[in-house]
Amino acid sequence: MSVSAPKSRDAFASTLGAFAATLGSAIGLGNIWKFPYLTGSNGGAAFVLVYLLAIAFVGIPILVVELTIGRKMRASAVRAYGTVIPGQRFWAGVGVAGVTAAFLIMAFYTDVAGWVFAYVFKSFGAFLCGTALDGRTFGALAGGTWEPLLWQAAVLALTTGIIAAGISKGIEKVTKTLMPLLFILLIVCDIRALTLPGAGAGVAYLFRPDLSKLTAAIVLYALGLAFFKLSLGMGTMTTYGSYLPDETRIVPTATRVALADTAVSLLAGLAIFPAVFAFGGKPAGGPGLLFNTIPLIFSRMPLGGLFTSMFFVLTAIATIGAMVSILEVPVAWIIEQGHLGRRGAALLTGGLMFALGIPATLSQNPLLAEVKIFGKNFFDLFDFMSSNVLLPLGGLAIAILGGWALSRKDFAAEMNKGYASEPWHGRLVFGILKFLTPFLILVILLSSLGVINI
Ligand code: TRP
Repeated sequence: MSVSAPKSRDAFASTLGAFAATLGSAIGLGNIWKFPYLTGSNGGAAFVLVYLLAIAFVGIPILVVELTIGRKMRASAVRAYGTVIPGQRFWAGVGVAGVTAAFLIMAFYTDVAGWVFAYVFKSFGAFLCGTALDGRTFGALAGGTWEPLLWQAAVLALTTGIIAAGISKGIEKVTKTLMPLLFILLIVCDIRALTLPGAGAGVAYLFRPDLSKLTAAIVLYALGLAFFKLSLGMGTMTTYGSYLPDETRIVPTATRVALADTAVSLLAGLAIFPAVFAFGGKPAGGPGLLFNTIPLIFSRMPLGGLFTSMFFVLTAIATIGAMVSILEVPVAWIIEQGHLGRRGAALLTGGLMFALGIPATLSQNPLLAEVKIFGKNFFDLFDFMSSNVLLPLGGLAIAILGGWALSRKDFAAEMNKGYASEPWHGRLVFGILKFLTPFLILVILLSSLGVINI
């Protein structure tokens, strides 16, 4: 088949399907693993506050631009950005940076997803044997060699398979049915954690900000997390926008996705931190925080082992929706080149991601633990380079496109489809995009480099 004509492209069957898939991309390890872990390593509530501001003034507007450009161009991210302004092919750089970021993110994301899948089985096994998981379980798993690598390979194989099967069939079904269950289980966790003696300190840690703790580095992490959480800055949402039905109203959809996603992050935080404080743990527990805390929370409940296992099952499902959306960015681009079909493109991408994932996974292994680049091991380096460098840079370009470079009329016409005249929120988002978003990103990037001092 030659280069895809618009008609042959896959599409989401309905606005609800599109909303569920978009949310399925946004909700993942970012909410359940990364949000609590970064909040704990960066001092708590002040970090959360900056993160929430970043979602409102950077995240939502950029999500709107990505969905709008995607739907308008109906092409992969690289082609969409390369052709959105005739004669200005250099915007394709956004898509190329996005494809690069996709590989870096998957390298460490599949490592963590592998831990989650392993925990499904470990916690179920412990439940059957009447024992409980403890702190040693995580250290042994993450610091191992073959075990984490095999789990990572399994996770990649599963994701690649879903991608090879096609968009609407693959993604929509899984995410639509299971997200509500995750939500309910998180609330169960919250109730248990919040009723533990000493839980109040954890709530204060999450919600009582001490602004004197803020540094430029912390602000950059909060911004990076906002991008990571909403799957922004690398073309994921542009690609999803290209499957969006014309009647979907973009600004309300983007806002709802951001609100639901933030709610899930906060619910995860409300489970973890009260428990950390109640059990006398350390909030700055690093990447193992989730894996060490959740089994502890449930160990104080009847059938705790079973609940732990269920929690990790649902988290695993959430990670699949997110991983599928990352993989789809390079895959859509490769298919568009016309040499490989969906299957071949999925296999090639999955294979390359596995190769890149090996050093990330082994970075907790004695073998590679001491190998540092810019003072970071491979895992942290891939995370930093993607979330704190490539995604904000991509986001900056996207914000400039939406606020300044694109014709206001064309942009608004696509963004406001479904309305008879321009709604107030369309104007508000545009104003923020023009006068706030790009400057905020720029100031944060420059100040974290030490170029300016805020
Ligand atoms: N948002 C997802 C999560 O929180 C991860 C993710 C999916 C992502 N697609 C992305 C992150 C694109 C950055 C860019 O788990």
